[in-house]
Amino acid sequence: MKYNALKGMEDILPPDVFVWQRVEALAREVFGLYGFQEIRLPIVEATEIFVRSIGEVTDIVEKEMYTFRDKGDRSVTLRPEGTASAVRCFVEHSLHTMPSPQKFFYTGPMFRYERPQKGRFRQFYQIGVEAFGAAQASLDAEIIIMLQNFLDRAGLEGLNFEINSIGCPECRPGYRDALLGFFSDRLPDLCPDCQRRYETNPLRIQDCKVQGCITLRQGAPVVPDHLCEECRTHFDELLSRLAFMKVPHTLNPNLVRGLDYYTRTTFEVTSEHLGAQKAVAAGGRYDRLVREFGGPDTPAIGFAVGMERLVTLLKEKTAPELHGPKVFIVALGKEAEMEGARIAEELRAGGLRVEPGYDGASLKSQLRRADRIGAEYALIIGENELRVQKVQWKALKKGEQGEVGINEISRFMGIRK
Ligand code: HAM
Repeated sequence: MKYNALKGMEDILPPDVFVWQRVEALAREVFGLYGFQEIRLPIVEATEIFVRSIGEVTDIVEKEMYTFRDKGDRSVTLRPEGTASAVRCFVEHSLHTMPSPQKFFYTGPMFRYERPQKGRFRQFYQIGVEAFGAAQASLDAEIIIMLQNFLDRAGLEGLNFEINSIGCPECRPGYRDALLGFFSDRLPDLCPDCQRRYETNPLRIQDCKVQGCITLRQGAPVVPDHLCEECRTHFDELLSRLAFMKVPHTLNPNLVRGLDYYTRTTFEVTSEHLGAQKAVAAGGRYDRLVREFGGPDTPAIGFAVGMERLVTLLKEKTAPELHGPKVFIVALGKEAEMEGARIAEELRAGGLRVEPGYDGASLKSQLRRADRIGAEYALIIGENELRVQKVQWKALKKGEQGEVGINEISRFMGIRK
């Protein structure tokens, strides 16, 4: 019987995994500089958490969640994103009692039952950040700058930072009315989903991917024209800070995002090299969500980076390579193998990566293997070598060779005791 991974779920193998590790390490470093600390959240949560936050009338909740009943007959869901869990965690542990703002980051797999295509998976990884407890536009600017800094240091170029404000519950009713007015005589031509959205959540029409709806919404009212005074001031403050810090960005008044929890600032980072799924990272403010989850009024903002898309862009620039060990030990005969294992441990203790030839194969085939895995040195030990307490060495890439005493190997390899 031959098994395959489920559709839309991928194995990540070397050498690609090295790119992942590098990006994850960089995220820790850069986000750490801005005071973000890691949290580890469960992958499965009560379904209600996602329905309440992401919104009942959204693609994620309506069509894409991996929801099932567990053995205790509870409805649980494989997390489709991290923000809802982070907010649940913030409220559950009363983290608002700690000094604000509280800044967290997380990494891990997310699950959405979408139609798999280039850059779109059913299990995909995000690195996300969430900052709680500061409403000031200076935090929005700092988070956007941090994201740019991270993507820049990762080596990405030619990205477009799209920014918008989608207002708050104060401005929403006015905008909603304007949208309803605009779409009222176009209603019969909207897709069935949008006809339903018209009644339940008209803002979502702005996010519909059906071509007919995209055409129909040309010229539709945009949120920034309907912002209340406070949201306008917040947005202007953010824009002036971005200008002051010379942060390149584009205003995109149509950027409404596919999740309902957002208020005010929203942003998306896109690349033209990714095809249809062009968002590498996205985020925004969600000033009402902590309150809705039963916590105190706590403004918050965050973003998540799509790891697969980021890694795709990096691999386009430089193909990842397999790195071989420093030393390959070619041992001929049982006793030599035992001595080889001892030498391997000595060198590993000195910080070198060492591979032994496990199989008792011939000299030729062990050397061939050393070469194939890209070892820098081969150390050859046979009966003669054991008798005179010396090994032969070969620098495989340079094509040099010689002999060294068994007691001298560490020093020869540059290990200082
Ligand atoms: P999102 O826009 O749904 O936002 O996802 C963020 C990023 O995850 C996307 O820009 C994309 O790079 C990646 N992504 C999403 N779906 C897929 C998929 N099916 N396959 C591959 N990559 C995907 C959120 O998830 C919010 N929680 C972000 C946030 C954090 N907002 C505030 N804090």
